[in-house]
This record gives sequence, structure tokens and C-alpha cells, in this order.
Amino acid sequence: MSSRLPQEAYYSFGCYAVVVVLGALSCLLYQIIKSMNCSNHDISTADIPPGSRGLPFIGETLKFMASLNSGKGLYEFVRLRRLRHGNCFRTNIFGETHVFVSSTESARAVLNNDLGRFSKRYMKSIAALVGNQSLLCASHQHHKLIRGQLSNLFSTNSLSVFIKQFDELIVDALRGWEHRSCVVIQDEALKITCKAMCKMLISVESGYQLEVLQKEVAHVCEAMLSFPLRLPRTRFYKGLQARKKIMGIIGDAISERRKGLEVKCEDLLQRLLTEDEKACGETGTTARQLTDEEIKDNILTMIIAGQDTTASAMTWMVKFLDENPEVLHTLMKEQLDLARKTSSKSFLTLESINDMPYASKVVKESLRLASVVPWFPRLALEDCEMEGFKIERGWNVNVDAKSVHLDPTVYTDPNKFNPSRFDDESKVPYSFLAFGMGGRTCLGMNMAKAMMLVFLHRLTTTYRWKVIDADSSIEKWGLFSKLKSGCPVTVTCIA
Ligand code: HEM
Repeated sequence: MSSRLPQEAYYSFGCYAVVVVLGALSCLLYQIIKSMNCSNHDISTADIPPGSRGLPFIGETLKFMASLNSGKGLYEFVRLRRLRHGNCFRTNIFGETHVFVSSTESARAVLNNDLGRFSKRYMKSIAALVGNQSLLCASHQHHKLIRGQLSNLFSTNSLSVFIKQFDELIVDALRGWEHRSCVVIQDEALKITCKAMCKMLISVESGYQLEVLQKEVAHVCEAMLSFPLRLPRTRFYKGLQARKKIMGIIGDAISERRKGLEVKCEDLLQRLLTEDEKACGETGTTARQLTDEEIKDNILTMIIAGQDTTASAMTWMVKFLDENPEVLHTLMKEQLDLARKTSSKSFLTLESINDMPYASKVVKESLRLASVVPWFPRLALEDCEMEGFKIERGWNVNVDAKSVHLDPTVYTDPNKFNPSRFDDESKVPYSFLAFGMGGRTCLGMNMAKAMMLVFLHRLTTTYRWKVIDADSSIEKWGLFSKLKSGCPVTVTCIA
């Protein structure tokens, strides 16, 4: 007995081990087959958009970051997947499912949002940097309130005042280029647009405060697409510190104005504060329209939304004109004729801006070809179908504006810079998306176009220029599509 027991024990242990090993192997096999089915399913199924979920947890975040860090720019990530999977594809970035759609019909469905199926959604890093009271992050109702308040400030009257102020800034800046051996358009344009935004919003136009704002806003912009880790020395942390400083400057301006220390300013901040008081007076209540936090977050939002985008668009425009001398020739003729009609001492007005039909098409074509904001993010609030695929509630749906702008079925010879393509205004609806569409259309659209036209007028009537670095690489870590070279040029004064 005593010798059999251990034998039995060995036997049953052996059986047990075999069962465990077989069990483990079948589990492994099951997992392999399941994952193979899963990836086949990802690519071939008709219900869910094709695409790859990438690695567990991190998805394709590293590849997304790699394209941000490459000379091809952030859009390269989208372009490659679109080539591989088609017009509508799915990926996983920062732990969330993102679908990209790129037809004019999808753009209409998502941006028009008649059925209330989508809300705007930015990545965590962007939301933390612009602030949760920003209209970029606000819920539908909150957005309505803030947008309503801010749109009052973008009236035709305000635009007329702004055009004159902006022209003064441009004339002054261009005067300084005359004796320089090289002018980097992106840097100069950014200085000008930042100054214009800060002046229009909070009357800061020179000195230490402007320098701080320029520097800190640049840090915030650089942090927009970083990993939202609040660790010292990271790009995101630097962005948050910069945001704090900017909030401090705007907060001080608000307190001074509320105390009546600075009442002479006629800027957007002053108008928001006066609207506040008017609202209190009219209703007889103490309820305020926008809180200080809302005002601060939205002033920062507008500086960010307005300066880098417009400066990048101006830079692309200079490059496109340099590469297309026949377009430049037609443009110069229009602008020199206009200059002859107006007094050399007066500043441009809204009427002069409306008298630039060809330049307006140059601006539009530059915006189409550059697609400075390449896609617009939204959140699906319910399950729906798009481009024949199923979209699940909670997924991010991105309208790929750049693909629409370069779609040969929408634009003939789409890579050609041809302003005259806009001679015929009857274009396919939702085919020009440079400023978005629907309830979230760019609030500063007319202002941005006016800045580009004023800049074009002064540049073409003051200088001839030659681009000295034609490299088309895109700047790393940019939220907007920006030329890495900054577009350096030499300029010669027109006698
Ligand atoms: C060439 C320059 C510009 C371009 C290409 C541009 C582009 C855009 C685009 C595409 C959107 C919509 C994004 C979406 O639907 O998700 C947008 C929104 C916005 N833009 Fe612009 N923009 C420019 C200049 C400006 C300027 C100068 C300002 C302000 C002074 C401004 C303020 C805003 C604001 C506040 C929003 C958010 C609107 C909302 O969510 O209701 N932008 N812009």
C-alpha cells in the first residue's frame, strides 16, 4: 500500500499537469484565433469602419505622436490611413476611438448637426489649456450663451474699426523690413497677428505685457497636442504654467476695469464688461451674463484661435504666390490699381477690402490648399450610420476637411493653386471648409479674411519678394499646419 500511494499520487499529478497544460494551450489558441478574427473583423466588416485599433491601451497613439514629430505634420497620420482604408476609417488615439470621415455629405451631417447627434469635443490637453469655460469645450447650451455674447462683438462696425487698426500695424511692420537681408514671414506674421489680437481683445499692444503674452501663448500652443501629464518639465506642464500667467494678466485687466482704474479702453473686454453692467441694469438683478472665468477663458481662446491660424495662412499664401508668378502678376495689377485710386496717406477701409475680387479668391484658394485646420473633432452622442458604416455613441468623429479640399471629384486638379477656380460661385455645398460650417463656424472668419487681404495689399504694393527656402516640411508639434522653414524671403522695395 505504502509503495502504491506515491505512484497514484504521481499519476494523478501527471494527469492534472497534462490537463492544465492542455487547458492553457487551448486558452492560448483561443486567444490567438480570437485576435486573428478580431483584426480580420477590423479590416473587412461592413458595419464598423475599417482601421486598426493598434496596441492594447495605447492604440495608435505612438504613431500619431510620431507624425506630430515628423516633418510631414500631423495630417500625415490621417493621410496614410485614408490611403490604406478609404474615405472613412477608424483608429484609437489616447485611449479613445476616432473615426475620420471625408465626404461633403458626411461634413454636412456632422457639422450641420440638424439631428443633434454630435457635440464638439477636443482632446483633454486642449480642453485643459483653453479652460473649461471656453466656448471650444462648452456644452450645447453653454456654447449658445457664450457664442451669442461674443458674436455681438464681431459686427460689421467692429470689423471696420479693426481693419483700420490692423492696416496701421501692417504698414508699421512692413516699414521695418526695408533694410533687412531676410524676413521670415511666419515669425513676422505671428508678431503682427498676436499684436492685433491682444490690442483688439484687451488693448495690450506694446511693452512688457505684450512680450509676456506672445511668449506664453506660444507655450500654450505648443502644449495643445502633448500628452496631458502634469509632470514638471513636460510640454503640457509648461503650457499649464503659461496659461496661469496669461490668466493673471487678463484677470488683472478685469479687476482694474471693474475698479474704474482703466476705463478708456475700447476693446472687446471692455464691451463684455459693459454688456454685463447693462444686463444687470436692465433686468434689475445682480445676475451677470458672463462670469470672470468665462471672460478669461474665452479671451485666451480667441488669442489662440486667431493668431497662429491667420499667421500660418498668410505664410502659405506668400509661398503659393511665389510659386505661381502668373497669379502674383494678376494680383499685383489689381492691388496697384486700387492703391492708385486711394490716397497714399489713408488707411484701408471695409470698402477697400470689398473692392479686391481677385485678392479675395487668392485668399480663398490659399486657405483651401493650406487647410490650416485640417480636421474638426466631434463626439457622437448616439449610435448612427455614416458613409455606410456604423458609428457608436461615444466615439470621436472627425471631419477631414483637408481631404475634402483635395478631392478631385470636388475640385479639378486639386493640387494646383488656381484662385480663378472660385470665379464660379456655384460650388458643391460643404466643399469649402477652411472656417468650418454650421453652428461652430469660425467666429473670426471675416476678421481673418480681412487681415489676409490687408496684408496682401500692403505686401504687393510695397515689395517684390523671393522665397529663399522652398522646403514644404511642416513644423513639428503644430496644432495647425505651419511651414517649418517659416518661409524666409528677401524683399526689394517697389520704387
Ligand atoms: C485664417 C485664419 C483662421 C482659420 C483658418 C480658422 C479656422 C477655424 C475653424 C476651422 C473653426 C471651426 C472648427 C470646428 O468646427 O471644430 C474655427 C473656430 C473658431 N475660430 Fe477660427 N480660424 C481663423 C481665424 C480666427 C480668428 C481671427 C478668430 C478670432 C478673433 C477665430 C476665432 C474662432 C473661434 C472663437 C472659434 C470657435 C467657434 C465655436 O466653437 O463656436 N478664428 N476657426
